[in-house]
Amino acid sequence: MAISEQQAEQIRNALAHITDPDLDRTFDELKAIHEVKIDGSNVDVYLTLIQPLHFAAEAINTLCRQAIHAIAPDAKVNIFVQEAQAAQQNRILPGVKNLIAVASGKGGVGKSTITANLAAGLAKRGARVGLIDADIHGPSIPAMFGLEGRQLDGEKTEDGKVLLHPLERYGVQVASIGFMLERDQAAILRGPMQAGYFRALVEQVKWDALDYLLFDLPPGTGDIQLTLTQSLPLTGAVIVTTPQDISLSDVRRGIAMFNRVNVDILGVVENMSYYVCPTCGHREDIFSHGGGKNISGELGAPFLGELPLNIKVREGGDEGMPVVINREAPYQSEALMNITRATVAEIRRKNLRSTAAPVVQISL
Ligand SMILES: Nc1ncnc2c1ncn2[C@@H]1O[C@H](COP(=O)(O)OP(=O)(O)OP(=O)(O)O)[C@@H](O)[C@H]1O
Ligand SMILES: [Mg+2]
Repeated sequence: MAISEQQAEQIRNALAHITDPDLDRTFDELKAIHEVKIDGSNVDVYLTLIQPLHFAAEAINTLCRQAIHAIAPDAKVNIFVQEAQAAQQNRILPGVKNLIAVASGKGGVGKSTITANLAAGLAKRGARVGLIDADIHGPSIPAMFGLEGRQLDGEKTEDGKVLLHPLERYGVQVASIGFMLERDQAAILRGPMQAGYFRALVEQVKWDALDYLLFDLPPGTGDIQLTLTQSLPLTGAVIVTTPQDISLSDVRRGIAMFNRVNVDILGVVENMSYYVCPTCGHREDIFSHGGGKNISGELGAPFLGELPLNIKVREGGDEGMPVVINREAPYQSEALMNITRATVAEIRRKNLRSTAAPVVQISL
């Protein structure tokens, strides 16, 4: 049945009042509705949305269809989406939409584990993902992706520059400082040389168009962190911590560093939060769980979720397959996908803050 004028008006109104699931604002407030074409029983909705949409697309699609079908149950709905343009173009890596640093104040808290799983989780969701392992002291991404001992292939361009190709595994493009150095050579490099290798990873590696480029950083606040934050427009940083007090005071230092260089903190992930006994299912809060949530509240940084201490997480790292894509580890995978989803929601919020304001025409 053809949609009446009155129904068309109601549909436009209902769409305008949909609240974006991540941004807590209506489509009207976000100027998200570009056009709604209604013809007979067809409804074509053209939306302009803040990227990245790897999780939000599904929810927004459902919300739009529900709103339309509540008014016109037989409507044939098509939804077309274009991404809102970022205010600031990233000139060094123009094809990369979101640059995310994963950092921690202290070593060994699971930064590389979280980065590897975020990357594989995003790729599982259909995103184009790159991962730079910038941990000069102990690059662990090659092992976590089963790429140990590999080198990056290069090609010479006409003007004599060398371009390197990242290695691909589980849909993630990976470049590690470990692919450029002999084993144990990394640890003896001095600060300026470390930064040089890091620059090569960013500038010489030929990254395809990417939705996300993740950086696994060395612990602390050294040269690499400084080079990264000064040379690239980061979307934001994810801070990994464990619940112990000492680790949390390191988190404060890490966050303070990013604040000083004006990089947004996307949020805090608490790793090794608790332990679940595989035989009896009893949960043990080994390091007094909840510290990550407390510190995120105290510092006004979002809490992105927690990952329990679990053998399958470590085995995934050792065996070269991030646990998030292991079908035999559904609980671990779900915890990590929840962290990934929360991170993407925060990236969208950040991108909303830095999206060019829509042009407003004023007639005088
Ligand atoms: N939730 C977890 N459950 C079990 N083991 C874990 C968990 N998270 C990390 N691990 C293990 O702990 C060790 C340290 O983790 P990881 O290498 O990710 O830490 P890191 O912060 O990157 O360390 P570094 O500071 O040396 O770079 C690894 O062996 C990893 O497999
Ligand atoms: Mg690491």
